[in-house]
Amino acid sequence: MRIDVFTLFPEWFDWFSAQRHVRSAIEHGLELRLHSYRSSTPLSGGQVDDAPYGGGAGMVLRVDVVDAALDAVYGDVGPSGRVVLLDPSGRQFDESLATELATERDLTLLCGRYEGVDARVREHLVTDAVSIGPYVLSGGELAAMVVADAVIRKLPGSLGDARSVLEESFSEALAGAPEYPHYTRPASYRGWDVPEVLLSGDHARVREWRLDQSRVRSGSQGDPPS
Ligand code: 6GU
Repeated sequence: MRIDVFTLFPEWFDWFSAQRHVRSAIEHGLELRLHSYRSSTPLSGGQVDDAPYGGGAGMVLRVDVVDAALDAVYGDVGPSGRVVLLDPSGRQFDESLATELATERDLTLLCGRYEGVDARVREHLVTDAVSIGPYVLSGGELAAMVVADAVIRKLPGSLGDARSVLEESFSEALAGAPEYPHYTRPASYRGWDVPEVLLSGDHARVREWRLDQSRVRSGSQGDPPS
């Protein structure tokens, strides 16, 4: 898979790219490329934004700048996969969209900045507008990292144990419910005991308990298990 990220701040992604699961996915064939709008802008002085028509505060990322950035990377044929604009008013990102995006051979993530992005980008240059939640960040970079992380951890080589991808939170194995709680040693700590069933060695009971807990969590909005 190849992921192209377009941003005004490629250096934000240095930390992300250095993480072990990302490096491991790269060793297994992922290509993660960072592109700066500024390095391909057709405007002088590295200009990328402009004042909004109709007035108002802040600056808007220009459509010609975004188009030129895509052109510089993909040429006349254009991007071959999904092109996702990170946008607080976009479709809410979730696990099923992550699964979908992970099947793409080429994925393009466009980060916006400042007050916004010229609306013609969303209308003409992208296939999806995606938000990571109901709050406003100062730019799309953190959102792009969230999307990239959720996608990359599904790729071969990213996680040490492939089983953890299959049976984790929100996966089909758990019927879309959040994951069951995990425990490890010590079995008792300050009087806080690990549920007895997990120490029983009875795999059928353990499985039943986990499915049950997973269902409890889906109704409890994140309360700790009782
Ligand atoms: Cl994709 N961008 C920005 N700027 N803020 C957000 C977001 C995206 N998703 C949630 N908040």
